[in-house]
Formats: sequence, structure tokens, C-alpha cells
Amino acid sequence: MKAAFFRKHGGPEVMEYGDIADPVVLPGQVIVDSPAASGNGADWKVRKGSYAPITDLPYIPGRDFSGVISALGEGVTDFAIGDEVFGVCDVGQEQAYAEKIAIKASIVAKKPKGLSHEECAALALIGLTALISVEDTLQLKKGETILIQGGAGGVASYAIQLAKYIGARVITTTRTENHAYLRKLDADHIIDYNAQDFTKVVSNCDAVFDTVGGDVTQRSFAVLRPGGRAASIAAGQAAPVSPRADVTSLRPKVGRDRPHLERIAALALSGAVRPPEMTIYKLSDAAAAHKVSEGRHFRGKLVFKVR
Ligand SMILES: NC(=O)c1ccc[n+]([C@@H]2O[C@H](COP(=O)([O-])OP(=O)(O)OC[C@H]3O[C@@H](n4cnc5c(N)ncnc54)[C@H](OP(=O)(O)O)[C@@H]3O)[C@@H](O)[C@H]2O)c1
Repeated sequence: MKAAFFRKHGGPEVMEYGDIADPVVLPGQVIVDSPAASGNGADWKVRKGSYAPITDLPYIPGRDFSGVISALGEGVTDFAIGDEVFGVCDVGQEQAYAEKIAIKASIVAKKPKGLSHEECAALALIGLTALISVEDTLQLKKGETILIQGGAGGVASYAIQLAKYIGARVITTTRTENHAYLRKLDADHIIDYNAQDFTKVVSNCDAVFDTVGGDVTQRSFAVLRPGGRAASIAAGQAAPVSPRADVTSLRPKVGRDRPHLERIAALALSGAVRPPEMTIYKLSDAAAAHKVSEGRHFRGKLVFKVR
């Protein structure tokens, strides 16, 4: 099969495109022939070696995909060959930048007919992350106010729409260039972080969802009301240490499961949470896509046309 992969950690130029042995289906798994995968911030961090060093090389990165089942492992009874499915590779597994993916059947879901493979690949990990962060971890409620940091990114594009669907008031931060995009997502108050210090114009929030990291994470605690909650997905695997004792700092635990994917599909079909703006790259252009993603000012979602 064709895949995009790297043989050593390094810059975008270490990404290669070529032939790799097909995956073998294990008991409980399915093989998905995937026409679409998406690019996430984690992909270039894995490639750079920002996480644990990878020794099992060449390594195929990539977390979410959408495709068609072409083989069933022993014991898989809830799918048939030809079923259209989408999902996110298991924690620590990856391999979505490839024409074929072997994955546990229990963590994929049927692809809704009303959405394209590209849209499902774009929605899978951002949807999972936003649902687990905003609904399960922050437990955002109707009538509350949330500050979503980094509104133009993929996860935040989903989280803004989800928070509005829940019935919350949404404040978000982005450069001026992205204000029209975030107005389309129905954000209530958009702050240009280059023109205004958000800590001077926002206060008394019930919740903060931080997708930016760095000093943005630390400064975000200031806008919370006493008893407020902050969740960050961009400041490591542990909850950031809060400078305030009267608020809660949380690190969402983003696992993999079918029910969350089914909720993503249902919310998309109902129109409650639509796919983010997508920019499509050929999988053979993974290096160029990584360069853009690594710039940290990419709007919406990178999607790879795999076949
Ligand atoms: N399972 C998990 O824990 C999980 C899952 C998915 C993602 N993540 C992490 O979550 C983070 C977000 O990922 P993502 O893919 O949604 O987006 P991303 O590509 O990492 O972020 C891009 C967005 O960040 C915005 N941004 C950059 N600096 C900013 C600032 N100072 N203030 C406000 N916005 C700023 C940019 O908008 P502007 O152009 O307006 O600056 C851009 O649209 C990443 O760190 C990623 O690794 C974690």
C-alpha cells in the first residue's frame, strides 16, 4: 500500500511517501481501506520527537480516517465487508496516513451517509476531543459563559459550535483574519488577541477551554469566576498548575470509543455541529501540510486525500 511515513525524527522534510507492507488483521480488528485521513497538531509533534522517541521505524503517523472495511478479524460480528466507517486510531497506535489501517472494531463507527469521507476524517479526532473536553470534563451547561482559546483551530471550531448547541455564551480569541470564519460558527464575542489583552476585557467566566498552550494557558485562569473550571489540551498530559486556589484546572482524558463517534455523526447530521473549514492535501504532500500545521496559524482542518 501507499503511505506517508518517516524513518527518523526531524523537520517536515523527513516525511516520505511510498510503499509500505499492508497491515495484517488481528482478532477483534478490521482493515479499513481509507480514501481520507486528517492532519492534527499531534502529527508533527510525533514526527519531531516531542513525545517519547519512536524506534519502530519507518513510522506512519496520523490519527483519524474514514473508509470502507475490506477485511474482518476473528470474532468481529458487528461489521461486514463493504461497510463505510470512520474513527480515530487507538492511543499509541496511529497509522492513518496510509491506504489501509488495521484497527480494533470496537473503536470505529458507521460513517453517516450524509457526510463525505473527508468530512468524517476531519470531524473524528476534533469531535472526540471537544466532546470529551466540553461536555464530559468541563460539563458546560446552558446559560454558562465559556472562553475558548484559539477559536480558529480544528478542535476549537468544533468546541465553539458544541458550546452554542449546549446553550452557552461563547467568547473566543483569534487574529482579525479569522473573525468572519468564527462569526459563521456563531461565536458571541470574538477577541483579536493581537489588539486586545483578553484578561482586560473578559472576566467572570464559568469555564475556559484552552487549545493554545504556553502563557495563554496560565493567563486564562484570571478570567474565571470563583469556582470556575479550566480545561487545557495544549499544555502537556497533566492538568496545568493553577495560580488560583478558587478554580479547578483539568486535563481532559481523550480516549477512543464508538459512542462518542456516533454522537459526532448525529450532531453533524442534525446540523448542530458542522465540519470545520477543510483544506485538502494529497498524502504525497504530507511534508508541506506539516509545515503549515506547525506554523500554528492554520484555520480549520487539514485533510489528506489518501487515494
Ligand atoms: N487528545 C488531545 O489531547 C488532543 C487532541 C487534538 C488536539 N490536541 C492539541 O490541541 C491543540 C489544538 O489543536 P488544533 O489541531 O485544534 O489546532 P492547532 O492547529 O494546533 O491550532 C491552530 C490555531 O491556533 C490559533 N492560535 C495560535 N496562537 C494563538 C493565540 N495566541 N491565541 C489564540 N489563538 C491562537 C491559530 O489561530 P490564529 O491564526 O488566529 O492565531 C490557529 O487557528 C494542539 O496543541 C494539539 O496538539 C490535543
